Amino acid sequence: MDRQKQDELKQAAAKQAAGLVEDGMILGVGTGSTVKFFIDELGRRKEEEGLALKAVVTTSSRSRKQLEGLGFTVSELADIDQADLTVDGADRVDKQLNGIKGGGAALTLEKNVAVNSKKNVWIVDESKVVDHLSGFPLPVEVLPISCEQNKRRFEAEGLNPQFRLNADGSRLKTHYGNYILDLHVDSVPVPSGLADYLDHTVGVVEHGLFLDICDEVIIARDNGEIETRC
Ligand code: 5RP
Repeated sequence: MDRQKQDELKQAAAKQAAGLVEDGMILGVGTGSTVKFFIDELGRRKEEEGLALKAVVTTSSRSRKQLEGLGFTVSELADIDQADLTVDGADRVDKQLNGIKGGGAALTLEKNVAVNSKKNVWIVDESKVVDHLSGFPLPVEVLPISCEQNKRRFEAEGLNPQFRLNADGSRLKTHYGNYILDLHVDSVPVPSGLADYLDHTVGVVEHGLFLDICDEVIIARDNGEIETRC
């Protein structure tokens, strides 16, 4: 699929999700190229329909900048109780609505906003939808102090970890000053087993397996149809 077509699909899914946003909501806004279209649509609704939100929280400085540019005031997660709705993208989503996220290295804040949201909706184009989680490296955010030990530990487990790098070859640092180890596994046959292992590995700050978090996924299909799965 060419880039332009994929962007059209992302935009279509984003537009559909923006229709779920209601006046007076506390809204969580994720990160990524699909979410960028969602924020564009929020801006349009604000301008043309007077959409008025109670509060907005977001998961990256990129999304924050875009939201603020459109006149939204962005709160910190600590300043709210919970969001009514959070809309985010995903890198892969399976039949049970489990997903891999973190392609934009924002997984820690994304998961924290998501678990503090009454409803989570993901917006994806068809290429992200899989039967079983596969086809995308699993991001794991690790503390710098023990990152080498964790890398060796993951190697011993056959998880093929690689530090995520910047264009200049240096290690990418997350918003929180940590590193990302991308696990290059062909597939994740038992997502809950791997999540449990990562949840119990000291030095792991967060990982990109988002299990039992998504309530609804809006899929823009190649043929132009929009499918909603709950
Ligand atoms: C960022 C994410 C994004 O939601 C995910 O990578 C999807 O991004 P895009 O819409 O650009 O494909 O998890 O950490």
